[in-house]
Amino acid sequence: MFGLSTVFTVLFVFSYFFFDIGEDLDVVLGFNASNLFLGICLGMALLLIGAGAVQWSRKLMADAEIVEMRHPARSSDADREETVGKLNTGIEESGIGRRPLIRNSLLGALGALGLPAVVLLRDLGPLPGDKLEQTVWRRGMRLVNDISGMPLTPSDIEIGQLVNGEPAVFFAEGPDGEKLYHGAELLQAKAKAAIVIVRMDPTEITPAPGRENWGVDGILCYSKICTHVGCPISLWEQQTHNLLCPCHQSTFDLADNGRVVFGPAARAVPQLPITVDEQGYLVAQSDFLEPVGPSYWERG
Ligand code: FES
Repeated sequence: MFGLSTVFTVLFVFSYFFFDIGEDLDVVLGFNASNLFLGICLGMALLLIGAGAVQWSRKLMADAEIVEMRHPARSSDADREETVGKLNTGIEESGIGRRPLIRNSLLGALGALGLPAVVLLRDLGPLPGDKLEQTVWRRGMRLVNDISGMPLTPSDIEIGQLVNGEPAVFFAEGPDGEKLYHGAELLQAKAKAAIVIVRMDPTEITPAPGRENWGVDGILCYSKICTHVGCPISLWEQQTHNLLCPCHQSTFDLADNGRVVFGPAARAVPQLPITVDEQGYLVAQSDFLEPVGPSYWERG
């Protein structure tokens, strides 16, 4: 096998020079001949080395079990006594037992080093209060495309389609022409309010009690933030209605209230109740009714 592998390696080099590439491409069975033969030859050369090594180890190498005994882990009594002796000598020579002032001031200095850590705890505040429980979504706020900022109508979304969305307020401007949200404030608000909007055949949706009117003609809206550790999710399998998180493969069934069907996420992805306004645009009925984002000890 090893000899045959060498033959394929030589053929690989031969193929490299033999077949034309570029405009006068050689074609075999509809494939680029150079790529085809280079791939086959290199693949066979590697495969034969692997297969040969396996055969060699299985058929020719000795198959006897060998047991190697470990030496005792415990040191001998003599070694232990010597170590204790050296330790005591070191303590004696350091004078720590005879100089209580130095010893105590050293211990005090080491203890005082804990104080800066306590002071630094102040930088963890202020406590977030209920900020983690709320997003900028409010009743009547339009759902817009997250790139164009265009408000969405039900006819903009086809069955099987997923659209990444945001609240319209992120694109709104104040009287001075400035965006209402910008900088770090915008990023923080976006991290909680990002959504995915999907449309399914209404007959395939099984809304939980109380959620019967949370969608519009098969259009449902969910948080885009994974409930595991908060990755943005928008990998959508339209056949299974599953939304997949690329970070650790948590999978949520959007036809079944965002239920977790696979992976480490501990709770369903939150759903945003939506409806249409008088102009026919998709709008939120309210904020999310549960916290969005990662689970932690208070959220399960
Ligand atoms: S963040 Fe989504 S599975 Fe971990």
